[in-house]
Amino acid sequence: MKKIYLNTMGCQMNVYDSRRILDALEKLGYVETLNPEEADFLMINTCYIREKASDKVFSMLGKFAKIKADRKKQGLPTYIGLAGCVVQALGDEVFHKAPFLDLAVGPQSYHKLPELLTRLDRGAGRTVEANFTSDEKFDLLPKANARAYSAFLAIQEGCDNFCTYCVVPYTRGCEYSRSADEIIKEAKSLVDTGAVEIMLLGQNVDCWHGKGLNGQKEWGLARLIEELAKIDNLKRIRYTTSYPVDITDEMIKAHRDIEKLMPYIHLPIQSGSDAVLKAMNRRYTVKQYLEVIDKLRAVRPDIAISSDFIVGFPGETDADFEQTMDVVRRVDYAQSYSFKYSARPGTPASLMKNQIPEKIKADRLTTLQALLLERQKAFNMKFIGKTLPVLLTEKGRAKGQLNGYSPYLQNVHATLSDDYLGKIVDLKITSATASSLSGTINVL
Ligand code: SAH
Ligand code: SF4
Ligand code: F3S
Repeated sequence: MKKIYLNTMGCQMNVYDSRRILDALEKLGYVETLNPEEADFLMINTCYIREKASDKVFSMLGKFAKIKADRKKQGLPTYIGLAGCVVQALGDEVFHKAPFLDLAVGPQSYHKLPELLTRLDRGAGRTVEANFTSDEKFDLLPKANARAYSAFLAIQEGCDNFCTYCVVPYTRGCEYSRSADEIIKEAKSLVDTGAVEIMLLGQNVDCWHGKGLNGQKEWGLARLIEELAKIDNLKRIRYTTSYPVDITDEMIKAHRDIEKLMPYIHLPIQSGSDAVLKAMNRRYTVKQYLEVIDKLRAVRPDIAISSDFIVGFPGETDADFEQTMDVVRRVDYAQSYSFKYSARPGTPASLMKNQIPEKIKADRLTTLQALLLERQKAFNMKFIGKTLPVLLTEKGRAKGQLNGYSPYLQNVHATLSDDYLGKIVDLKITSATASSLSGTINVL
């Protein structure tokens, strides 16, 4: 038995891919370890979205090189591999930056990993695999194992939107929707191996348009969710990330009618200024964005909304930034991710003349995050004294504690025995912070 240490950076798509990589390597006798020092194969599934993310990769690789050298002294051979978006973006250059690397695979080539490892075992030279054929990747990966009560399922990959700041269209390629047949089959396999909840993933998941069941013509996301909801032991369905104006009226109805569809939506606005949105090449105005939210709230008043924000995009003025703050006050987000704009090689925005100084970006981020945190805390506090159905997904840090998720994707802690893992339990919420809730089992 060989051991793999796989460090996953970046988005949920990478988490999904990493689980699939583990599935693929199981066939070669690899089991996962969380201790890099005992691993025969050290790998990072990388992210290229912001500069910080790709810097982190190379500092971690330095640590891997040291482990490899130490193990070599003990006569233990070790491979070091790189997967993910950095490989797609940099290609062969990764070997110049990290000469001790043994292999590199882009996001569409994971199914080739077993073959690449076998080649290394035979003493063949190192390789980089980075082509764009998503369909092949999904076809050739083995059956999916849930590996978690809340499982990820990629239904769509790539992006054709070309927002001017973003590397994803270059690292994940053009948009590709998997067929409903494939997705339903994978969902059943995830549920059979323990998943209670499935999070459907895609860079623009709401524009999924795969072939319908049994070769029917294209379906939309709402129809797919309706079909998934028929799987008995699947209790909860979520999806992310949605492009704001690709939410159709069918999806709004799905939030009204499909009980298993959780009342939560990640709807990244990025900026509250129409001028900035235009420069970002986002296909909506603030007004159109708010209309989508109004429609969702009309059918599901309790729906929790989250967003991503970028501050300090080239040309962003104080007045533009104030408009972002206004949107936050107006929407009342349940959760959010916010970032300083990071100029990425090859993107149009990186060539714009009016880049914003680091200090202004940092100040705006601090101001925005303070407001987001205050609102997030207020959102959570509203649940104190209420009872929420919580899916218990993992053991907590404290002994005897379990962690799980409310329908609104709030993290909930409770003192419960391990028997409750994988179960949905009504918990009475006793306290709340900005980042989590605590609950106890309701005693009548
Ligand atoms: N497809 C999703 C976003 C995927 S990337 C969407 O369109 O909303 C995840 C988030 O990273 C983005 O929403 C954005 O907020 C952030 N991001 C992407 N590129 C960035 C950059 N160059 N600098 C800072 N943040 C960035
Ligand atoms: Fe990037 Fe825009 Fe595509 Fe989202 S929609 S992945 S931000 S290019
Ligand atoms: Fe990062 Fe690639 Fe995801 S760049 S955010 S891992 S699609």
